[in-house]
Amino acid sequence: MTAVLTAVGVHKTYRLGRREIPVLQGIDMSLMEGEIAALVGASGAGKSTLVHVLGLLDPPTQGTVHYGETDVTTLPTPQQARLRHEHVGFVFQFYHLIPELNALENVCLGSMMTMSLPGWLSGGRRVKQRARELLSKVGLEERLRHRPSQLSGGERQRVAIARALIAEPKVILADEPTGNLDSNTAAGILDLIWEINEERRISFLLVTHNEAVARRCDRRIRLRDGSVESREVGRN
Ligand SMILES: Nc1ncnc2c1ncn2[C@@H]1O[C@H](COP(=O)(O)OP(=O)(O)OP(=O)(O)O)[C@@H](O)[C@H]1O
Ligand SMILES: [Mg+2]
Repeated sequence: MTAVLTAVGVHKTYRLGRREIPVLQGIDMSLMEGEIAALVGASGAGKSTLVHVLGLLDPPTQGTVHYGETDVTTLPTPQQARLRHEHVGFVFQFYHLIPELNALENVCLGSMMTMSLPGWLSGGRRVKQRARELLSKVGLEERLRHRPSQLSGGERQRVAIARALIAEPKVILADEPTGNLDSNTAAGILDLIWEINEERRISFLLVTHNEAVARRCDRRIRLRDGSVESREVGRN
């Protein structure tokens, strides 16, 4: 099996004034091609911090992050940003959609960072077509022109998933993607994640507090006291 994402000896310490807050203290983990791994652990254990470090939103204090074979932590910033956009998609608990843009425009924007601006503008029609297809895939073909404020929570998360898919990433980092949704809506989003995983072989790292969701995953990665406590096997 091939690893799509690897952390080697990752430390992350936040500094608040003179205080140092060690959060991650030597994380070694891999996410394999095509798997869905749950990332679990108590509130404050460092799950979101790890997601940010793996997604290059925040640099590790020490250690390296690899996308496939490439150590991305040592790359110059522009290459790093480009590789990140090609390799990784994000889904957050609070969607992070742009309020002024409608669903279609929010999804189109997800492809912008993988292309040059002229390329993106000239490929506009193709990008739009693809965004339409993805919104239809997530069941929102009737909501293309709705702004986030005109969508339900579940619908907003579907837009965020379509936005993550448009750059065709190998990995989606999903930080409590159903944390803000009622259980029925959450079940629909989770089914969609599993469907995408099966159809496109995209790997997911799924942060969750829900034991049943964690059990449904191929594997559980549990954080405690700044390190990976166990890698329990799942999918039942
Ligand atoms: N920017 C920051 N500056 C200082 N401390 C931070 C910062 N971000 C997070 N922390 C601290 O790091 C620790 C881990 O936070 P993190 O958000 O990664 O936890 P989590 O496992 O995602 O928790 P939850 O399940 O509640 O979302 C917490 O103690 C938090 O207070
Ligand atoms: Mg968190």
